[in-house]
Amino acid sequence: MEKKNLFIYTFGCQMNVHDSEKIAALMENSGYASVDDVGKADLIIINTCSIRERAAQKVYSQLGRLKKFKKRNPKLIIGVGGCLAQQWGSKFIERVPYLDLVFGTHNIHNLPDLITTIENTGLTAVRTDFQEAVKSLGILAPTENGKVTSYITIMQGCNNFCSYCVVPHLRGKEESRSLSDIVKEVAVLAGRGIKEVTLLGQNVNSYGKTIGNGHDFADLLYEIGSIGGIERIRFTTSHPKDLSDRLVRCFSEVDKLCEHIHLPVQTGSDRVLEMMNRCYTRADYFDRVHKLRAICPDISITSDIIVGFPGETDRDFQATIDMMGKIRFDNLFSFKYSERDGTAAAKLGDKVSECVKSDRLKIVQALQEKHTLERNEAMVGNMEEILVEEISKNSKEDVTGRTRTNKIVNFRGSHELISKTVSVLITDAYQHSLRGRLLNVN
Ligand code: 5AD
Ligand code: SF4
Repeated sequence: MEKKNLFIYTFGCQMNVHDSEKIAALMENSGYASVDDVGKADLIIINTCSIRERAAQKVYSQLGRLKKFKKRNPKLIIGVGGCLAQQWGSKFIERVPYLDLVFGTHNIHNLPDLITTIENTGLTAVRTDFQEAVKSLGILAPTENGKVTSYITIMQGCNNFCSYCVVPHLRGKEESRSLSDIVKEVAVLAGRGIKEVTLLGQNVNSYGKTIGNGHDFADLLYEIGSIGGIERIRFTTSHPKDLSDRLVRCFSEVDKLCEHIHLPVQTGSDRVLEMMNRCYTRADYFDRVHKLRAICPDISITSDIIVGFPGETDRDFQATIDMMGKIRFDNLFSFKYSERDGTAAAKLGDKVSECVKSDRLKIVQALQEKHTLERNEAMVGNMEEILVEEISKNSKEDVTGRTRTNKIVNFRGSHELISKTVSVLITDAYQHSLRGRLLNVN
């Protein structure tokens, strides 16, 4: 039977990127093949994110652009999944009448049945119920030929309820997969030639707390660290309050664990941290950073910062700037606070004006650009271990890989190097990448 065509738009974080891979894998088994041209699609899925305002706006404008395809081909099925779908449910179809399907964050595995029903009846379908054991966590996406890195979901949901964040409301309570399932899956990935795995979850370092089988995140790292074929382990995202000393020690004891941690701080002000319900102080955060750098001096530390949280004063903001100066993050994702319905922070008064938020964001971004370049420049002259991932997007004569500290490096090289671990001398540093010269293939 001829395959039908599937096109997926993905918005948001790595979790969503990986969910889209799972959607493609499921639909592949139901007679759909992914295509690059949306104009040829029989099924279009928009995997949405609603963590911040702009993310939602982007989805609506994308849907607006799809209307013409539906007019041209009434049999085309358009579905939305992810956080925005979870939040809006059937209201999404009232707002966008040419939508056929809305599926929530716990319903990915229901997708083949939902699509079949729509195909057979021509009716719309909405499914956004939270389910106990999240079946979608265990869907193993196929590995593209030649791919060397892979995501693997180890847990989903979040129990933290940071006051600004919709995630716990839309992705449900925290649920961890069993250690043996994860280890089996990583071994399958290693058998397919995957060299680097990134363990994914909203708060990976609280892994295990909800399954209560006596294993924590550090145990998982030790286990994965002993799987043959896997050379590198990364994880994201972690919460400073759950960064135990034992986990910090993993950076020196688990050889395969790469020297990079994404550790969102959100603000440098104790007053704002408390209002955000982050459960750590500025001093706690500094303490974690010192411990990480003491055990692993070259570790790269990246973070997230929100500016303009309700009640954030100039003094609070200066505390954030001061902290950035003292820590000097390798990279930073910074955002203007955006009010989300249903969160505790939405009820707070003393909102910060858009204009002040924009000014503060500009200051943070300009300072971070300086720090990023400074950190990158400090690597010139180093010999770095690079896992080669692909031919460079900018030049066919170059290959691209990453350092263990997660910096992108381009250097002269050809196809045969892909999937090899090589030593590269860093010769130049830029804002978003490094350039180097191949020394030897390890
Ligand atoms: N407004 C602005 N930024 C937010 N984030 C999460 N919720 C909000 C919000 N309501 C940011 C945090 C988080 C990152 C994934 O998104 O910095 O770490
Ligand atoms: Fe949101 Fe906080 Fe959970 Fe991260 S830890 S997903 S910011 S509630």
